[in-house]
Amino acid sequence: MEPTYNFDRIIDRKETASIKWDEADHIFGGDHLTPLWVADMDFRVPDEVTQALSERVRHGIYGYTSRSDRYLSAVQKWMAERHQWMIEKEWICHSPGVVTALNLIVNGFTKAGDKVLIQPPVYPPFAKAVLNHHRELVTNPLTYDHGIYSIDFADLEAKLSDPKVTLMLLCSPHNPVGRVWSIKELKALSTLAVNYNVLIVSDEIHSDLVFNDCHHAPYATVSEEAAAHSIICTAPSKTFNLAGLQISNVIIPNQSLRRNYLKEVRRFSLGEPNTLGIAAAEAAYRYGANWLDQCLVYIKKNADYVSEFLEHNLPKLRMTPLEGTYLGWIDCTELGWDKMKLQRFLTNEAGLALNQGYTFGAEGAGFFRINLACPRSLLQDAMRQLYAAFHE
Ligand SMILES: Cc1ncc(COP(=O)(O)O)c(C=O)c1O
Repeated sequence: MEPTYNFDRIIDRKETASIKWDEADHIFGGDHLTPLWVADMDFRVPDEVTQALSERVRHGIYGYTSRSDRYLSAVQKWMAERHQWMIEKEWICHSPGVVTALNLIVNGFTKAGDKVLIQPPVYPPFAKAVLNHHRELVTNPLTYDHGIYSIDFADLEAKLSDPKVTLMLLCSPHNPVGRVWSIKELKALSTLAVNYNVLIVSDEIHSDLVFNDCHHAPYATVSEEAAAHSIICTAPSKTFNLAGLQISNVIIPNQSLRRNYLKEVRRFSLGEPNTLGIAAAEAAYRYGANWLDQCLVYIKKNADYVSEFLEHNLPKLRMTPLEGTYLGWIDCTELGWDKMKLQRFLTNEAGLALNQGYTFGAEGAGFFRINLACPRSLLQDAMRQLYAAFHE
């Protein structure tokens, strides 16, 4: 594949109201920090997306918008071609964002006294979505052995067998540990979920971002029972860097679950998409595959660069294998520092805005997460800053 996009190009995002770039100093309490935190990319989107947006903007009228048949066909085709998942258009429900969907689902599909299971260390809004609605949080921490994360199925079964656990939020691929769950793991999960009658909400926002020989299987494809017993959250936002356009697709094969979900969407009046989001997402799904393939090659090289740099220069820091997502998960536990010392060091000494591991759950203490979806030179600067901080 001949690269046609230049991902090395630095595009100044300062003063564009970018949370990652314009809020970092304020949030982390630093000065000119190198921002490698929030999960969006510092790359321009596919040309076809910019073109579709320009055309839509030129039209000059931005009234209430529906999800056209063209849009739904583009989503359907993407799922079929990228994930070999044949979906019906009517399964595709709207949400402005995946986090909104998680909150709607916890609120609408569980009742007071129910418990919801998550697998820390995990994306912080998972716990918040449970606690926001005063449901009880149950955790099935991932096991970490010789640098590899996996699911503790014995503990998972023990937790799911509690009749009060009625819902589980699965992160697939997993942010922040970078695992792409295998079909075998997902099947084992679905057997337990079906046995104990637990609804699985699978957050698959990172599903297009997988590397090497890893293969993402949408949870609903692992068995008929899994399809009937799950809600799959997807979005073009991570894949094509469209997070600010607020559009995601919640795919629900089971008609009765879908009706319930749509009732919640209507209750909060969230059913109408953003006009520009629809234009961008349709173009991305229709024409973005080539851009994405090039982008994945670039991100993988970034991951290899960081991993090798640490191995050769700062061997007490190690990146766990990146199977999916563009988020590196760096194990600093060998330093033996407490979480606040690590945070102060990374911010104040190294000048880096990074997501601290403990914010993903207590199991993440001693780790940090680094965003790899940026020009390599930014990562090279970051590694130099880290090295200098250790050696000064
Ligand atoms: C696992 C996961 N889910 C959801 C989101 C955010 O989704 P949205 O912006 O659609 O709410 C992120 C962003 O990093 C994420 O990593």
